[in-house]
Amino acid sequence: MKPKILVTREVFDDVLDYLGRHFDVTPNQSDAPMSPEALGKALADKQGALTTLTERVDAALLSKCPGLKAVCNIAVGYNNIDLKACSAAGVMATNTPGVLDDSTADFTWALILATARRVTEAEAWLRAGQWRGWKLKQFLGTDVHHATLGILGMGRIGQAVARRARGFDMTVLYHNTRRLSAEVEKNCNATYVTMDELLSRADILTLHMPYSPATHHIMDAAKLAKMKPGAILINAARGGVVDDAALIDALKRGAIAGAGLDVFENEPALNPEFLKLTNVVLTPHIASSSETTRRNMAMLAAENLVAALTTGKPPNLLNP
Ligand code: DGY
Repeated sequence: MKPKILVTREVFDDVLDYLGRHFDVTPNQSDAPMSPEALGKALADKQGALTTLTERVDAALLSKCPGLKAVCNIAVGYNNIDLKACSAAGVMATNTPGVLDDSTADFTWALILATARRVTEAEAWLRAGQWRGWKLKQFLGTDVHHATLGILGMGRIGQAVARRARGFDMTVLYHNTRRLSAEVEKNCNATYVTMDELLSRADILTLHMPYSPATHHIMDAAKLAKMKPGAILINAARGGVVDDAALIDALKRGAIAGAGLDVFENEPALNPEFLKLTNVVLTPHIASSSETTRRNMAMLAAENLVAALTTGKPPNLLNP
């Protein structure tokens, strides 16, 4: 008998086909998000789950799934999974590192350029029929070329963002929990600085760290206050690394010039004050969402699940 697995959200058909060759699959191609109760019921008789960041996997859920052996997240971030609870329950957890770095870095640049050059604000204004003709001072933005890019969190995605800055002749500064090797710094053309130096020197500050208790509100009111006046904040990492209320306050006061945000606290129920601001670019958590990358993420998660339930050794195990 094939092991039973649940796929919690819609995935690509070829991913389901692949899973179907190994497992008795319960899909959710209607894509309806599952409540914790529904998820507990659906997983009660399953050995594996292909999850996304919209499902919380914690001790309460695991207590309802005695046969569960593996939870494979279709995301590099895994703050929706309580790893300690998984380990205590003997459940393997995996993520999808590597396959989304370049797409996420590309999108970070989309946010940087759109925010600095006021692309979405100008487009909304044009679409609203307000354009009466060219003006010298129309939608004056901030130059990206030759500016100082600050990267907080210099893992694979931060490094991919840094490499892309070469074409804009930027000075690249970074801060990270550990300093990178001289070789990687050279490859990224990036200089390690203290957090305070990063905040005070960056014209554009972009965040690339995982969300955890240690990074909760890492950009709080005090850190936002240390940013350069006229600077721009970009977050394509996770909601919760920025104190959204403090950011809204800084944006309203003009303490910083703008923000480009793909992730939010309590998403999708983002703070409604964001919608009233014109100096923010807002996107719905799509930084990794290219056709190729989302396919690769889903397939890698499926491969993790197959390896977990057949060999007990999935390649991207988070809780060995
Ligand atoms: C990730 O992989 O963590 C992304 O946020 C998913 O979109």
